[in-house]
Amino acid sequence: TKGITALSLLGAVGLVSYKVYNESQPANQLPQVSTFETGQKKKTLVILGSGWGSISLLKNLDTTLYNVVVVSPRNYFLFTPLLPSCPTGTVELRSIVEPVRSITRRLPAEVIYLEAEATSIDPVNNVVTIKQSTTVHSGHSGKDTSSSKSTVAEYTGVDEITTKLNYDYLVVGVGAQPSTFGIPGVAEHSTFLKEVNDSVTIRRRLMDVIEAANILPKGDPERKRLLSIVVCGGGPTGVEVAGELQDYIDQDLQKWMPEVASELKVSLVEALPNVLNMFNSKLVEYTKQVFSETNIDLRTNTMIKKVSDKVVIGTHKKEDGSTETVEIPYGVLIWATGNAPRDITRDLISKVEEQKNARRGLLVDERLLLDGSDNIFALGDCTFTKYAPTAQVAFQEGIFLASHFSKLAEIDSLKYTLSNPTPEDNVDRLTKKLNKLEEKLPIFHYSHQGSLAYIGSEKAVADLVWGDWSNVTSGGRFTYLFWRSAYIYMCLSVRNQILVCLDWVKVSLFGRDCSKE
Ligand code: FAD
Ligand code: NAI
Ligand code: MG
Repeated sequence: TKGITALSLLGAVGLVSYKVYNESQPANQLPQVSTFETGQKKKTLVILGSGWGSISLLKNLDTTLYNVVVVSPRNYFLFTPLLPSCPTGTVELRSIVEPVRSITRRLPAEVIYLEAEATSIDPVNNVVTIKQSTTVHSGHSGKDTSSSKSTVAEYTGVDEITTKLNYDYLVVGVGAQPSTFGIPGVAEHSTFLKEVNDSVTIRRRLMDVIEAANILPKGDPERKRLLSIVVCGGGPTGVEVAGELQDYIDQDLQKWMPEVASELKVSLVEALPNVLNMFNSKLVEYTKQVFSETNIDLRTNTMIKKVSDKVVIGTHKKEDGSTETVEIPYGVLIWATGNAPRDITRDLISKVEEQKNARRGLLVDERLLLDGSDNIFALGDCTFTKYAPTAQVAFQEGIFLASHFSKLAEIDSLKYTLSNPTPEDNVDRLTKKLNKLEEKLPIFHYSHQGSLAYIGSEKAVADLVWGDWSNVTSGGRFTYLFWRSAYIYMCLSVRNQILVCLDWVKVSLFGRDCSKE
């Protein structure tokens, strides 16, 4: 047995080393060309976004078939499932981002990446206008984009560059922006949890209020306000971040800053009677129980209606059906009430007649083709489909689109051959092949692997679908270990996998620190 153990260990080390080596080297890529050797024109495929949908498409795409251009204001992929762990330092931000180039430079043929955001799409002339941008925010810069279009950008040393790109095929994978429902004060006073910057802002704000409260005497109402952390929205984002914050308070701040830690209070506000509504009711109850044990103040049936710089105001529906107004003073407000379409998505909706009923996202068919277009595809959170806006869905859609584009390339090449046949070509056979391909183009099928969420104090909930036969639900510490392994497995690079594991080891050895940066 010793021999077997040694051999398998050696094998594992070998495999990891191979993967690490492979990831750390760019590939020898074929350059982009305007025509194939046959003389057929090579089509340009423009992909918008560098998130779950677009990166999954890119990683699976045969890039020798198209001239691929990726446009995204974010020159990295962000592994969102671990973002709620970042403000407290359980996981470092750098460990969950992957540069776009380390993905594009390892594909079989050259892919052009442009750091810019698409500002408008012209579906008639197949042109997309892009604007170079050096900052990434969640879609809000202190102003509600639904009520006001003006955003004042800080000068970054780079003048704004606007240019146009032609495409043969366009893939829209721009994701969504955090919703505010136009509630007054939200865009100005709260922090979202969507991008890297949001995590940095939450961290800074949290440390600021803690240190400020510490100067004030005990019992001062201002001290109490500063130490109140309000999370609005009891979806998985809100639940996970509330759990992580409470962990930080209980496990680290209690040790290093006991003078304020016991007064820090996390409140989770949810409009509906329950949190985590997509989970099995047993798990919802379990979450409630864990929250009450860990002192997270769960305020269900409470809908926030207004936000000022120091207080959130909402209505609480009582058990007897009557309502009361509640005011919760806060020092830190985290807003996590789900998604709203981005400006670019709304722009495209307004330009295509078949999209006129689209409210929550782009309408697409079973092959992710935009309704009303024959060369624009859309995937992920910018679409409105029967599926939830999750990474899992966007990821599978990306894999589907990659294989769809291979099929489209094959069809194009057959059509080209048929219109320029050489004597060796069997036209009948090729026509049959073409018809069969066109008839049998697969449609997208989503395979749900289950839902997982971390709820704090080293407990997680999992609603799993294993095969057709069972629907496993579990909660607790074992699920937490499962949650950790599942997320490691989901990371898109070995580098990220290793870094995240090292972060966890670091925290288990030293705890999380309480410095500002
Ligand atoms: P995104 O991943 O958001 O990517 C959009 C991309 O488009 C970004 O690169 C962005 O920079 C770019 N972009 C934006 N505007 C433009 C523009 N105008 N032009 C060009 N590019 C643009 N889902 C799960 O399944 N499991 C989880 O555990 C999970 N945890 C989450 C935790 C958090 C904190 C959050 C916020 C989300 C979580 N999700 C999870 C949901 C998941 O992240 C999204 O469903 C997923 O990111 C959607 O992928 P996408 O490609 O559509 O959009
Ligand atoms: P969400 O849409 O899932 O939940 C938002 C919650 O906010 C809802 O429960 C809603 O009732 C509540 N809400 C809305 N307005 C409110 C108000 N004014 N006052 C009080 N409560 C209000 O949003 P979330 O959590 O941001 O997730 C977005 C998407 O990302 C979802 O599809 C989710 O499944 C996915 N996701 C998945 C995760 C996971 O699987 N672990 C983690 C994070 C996100
Ligand atoms: Mg995407």
